[in-house]
Amino acid sequence: MAKSRHEYVCRECGYRSPKSLGRCIKCGEWDSMEEVMVVDAPKSVSAKKSYVVSNSVPRRLGEITEDENPRIYFGMSEMERVLGGGIVPGSITLISGDPGIGKSTLLLQTALKFSETLKVLYVSGEESERQIKMRAKRLTDAEKFSDNLFLVTETNLDAIHGYLVNLNPDLLILDSIQTTYIPTKDSSAGTVTQVRECSSMLREYAKSTGTSVFLIGHVTKDGNIAGPRTLEHIVDTVLYLEGDRFQSYRLLRSVKNRFGATSEVGVFEMSNMGLLEVKNPSEAFLAERMVNAAGSAIAVPMEGTRPLLVEIQGLTSPTSFGNPRRTANGLDFNRLQLITAVLIRRLGYRLGEQDIFANVVGGLKIDEPAADLAIAAAIASSMRDKPIQADCVLIGEIGLSGELRAIRQLEARLNEAEKLGFRKAIIPKRLGRKGEIASTMEVIEARTVKQAFYFAFGEHDNS
Ligand code: TYD
Ligand code: MG
Repeated sequence: MAKSRHEYVCRECGYRSPKSLGRCIKCGEWDSMEEVMVVDAPKSVSAKKSYVVSNSVPRRLGEITEDENPRIYFGMSEMERVLGGGIVPGSITLISGDPGIGKSTLLLQTALKFSETLKVLYVSGEESERQIKMRAKRLTDAEKFSDNLFLVTETNLDAIHGYLVNLNPDLLILDSIQTTYIPTKDSSAGTVTQVRECSSMLREYAKSTGTSVFLIGHVTKDGNIAGPRTLEHIVDTVLYLEGDRFQSYRLLRSVKNRFGATSEVGVFEMSNMGLLEVKNPSEAFLAERMVNAAGSAIAVPMEGTRPLLVEIQGLTSPTSFGNPRRTANGLDFNRLQLITAVLIRRLGYRLGEQDIFANVVGGLKIDEPAADLAIAAAIASSMRDKPIQADCVLIGEIGLSGELRAIRQLEARLNEAEKLGFRKAIIPKRLGRKGEIASTMEVIEARTVKQAFYFAFGEHDNS
């Protein structure tokens, strides 16, 4: 007879406690303990036995060849880039993001591409087979679907396992982990227990058969549905699909990757034929730019290993009531505060009675200090109502004394700016560093923000 008992599990970190707690003692999250019924399964049906995979014998490091993890390239280069180059067989990847951002679309596109060469099973617990078929028709211009793409609406993991054994696909896509459940576990789909058990079982399946698995996981604004953090430990790779729902750009970002670099970013655009890869994101982000308008500056932040050119907009307007407001859109608010303080104290800008709005165009989020100078310049440009030279990019971190600080990967940034036709770059002075910068652009080194502005506003020309 199986015994059952109650337990409380933290939705965020998975900490278990026999008693209910107002605050998780492991991760400190308030109100995150969820009651679960634990049924101790009879020993014989324990899933533990299945994890003995054929090659899990200790071997010498030198004996292990690296090409044991060949990657599968399936023809979506932005996605492959984020994964660190192709899908690793036997890996398990979680894709999460806000509802409606395009996770199902992205993975259905992956399934369509992948099935041109290999076998795919797409399991959905959210949409009917008909709905998915209709979406698939929108996403492809092929006349006929591949015979390698199988579709099923199912939420019961035991049933899904049955299909997997029958079909033996190369790729499993599960939409979503929160709708999947194991019937023997006495809790409903989407709870911590179910999410964790389901993904553990899928991981074991992936590792023992070499099938790659993609899971979709929802996150609400407060991360309330069965803690994504619990899941993050179980999977190999975690990708976030993000973007402003009212704008068409979507960024696929890797936040954990056992097989590649994290912070790699893929850029897509949501169209009426699904997500299109944006091959040249800088060009796209600058497409709507108004040249010679005050309050606009071009920054070159790095997204992963790739430099991007983005427009930063600043607007200042006299405060009409109470404290001046600072609004940062796509920027770190504290960074904006710091830059504003430097502009006031070190450069004498009278921003104390001004509301300040700073915005990154295109729905991108920048947290890199290398964009400081462009943010400062956009605000200063709006305040002075004077445009920054149109063919000029501004790169540099601002220090509290109003100095410009060195930033990494300068060459890559300059190359990207050069490619897009910019003629001038203002960068921090490279102290104690020798060697010319290989660039056909006019590269101006500035010690301070003040000097940088002097060049950016073209004041050296008429003085
Ligand atoms: P979806 O993939 O269902 O989001 P998620 O799985 O993350 O919840 O995508 C939802 C949005 O994408 C929906 O609002 C409609 C839009 N969309 C397009 O704009 N074009 C398309 O071709 C498709 C398939 C969806
Ligand atoms: Mg969906």
